[in-house]
Amino acid sequence: MTITTIYVCTNCKAAEDTSPERAGARLMTALEGVIAISGAKVRLEGVECLSVCKRPCTVAFSAPGKWTYVYGDFAPDSAPETILEGAALYAATDDGLIPWKQRPDALKKGVIARLPPSVSSPKASEITP
Ligand code: FES
Repeated sequence: MTITTIYVCTNCKAAEDTSPERAGARLMTALEGVIAISGAKVRLEGVECLSVCKRPCTVAFSAPGKWTYVYGDFAPDSAPETILEGAALYAATDDGLIPWKQRPDALKKGVIARLPPSVSSPKASEITP
């Protein structure tokens, strides 16, 4: 079983945000807390931007050999449990494709993009000029 990485944009800023701390940074902190309590086996990594700045807060699920999914529209204070639930569903798949009916509503509504699994070190002959 591969380890799922949850990337969190720590730079996301919510429109209605009055906190001096960015919404994305608050989401990161909240996720750290939920993961510590749950003991979930995930890797959490903060990133500066996932290029989905108009749909804060944004996260991505990724793992070797699996599709990467990018999601947005998460509330920083209430979304960590849902994100962790989604990450567990993602981890349980072989390819990263969570069946639609199993996805929490926030993942159905918040899906932004999916990217195919990366290919490790293609041979020169496999690269199109
Ligand atoms: S600032 Fe969060 S996706 Fe760009």
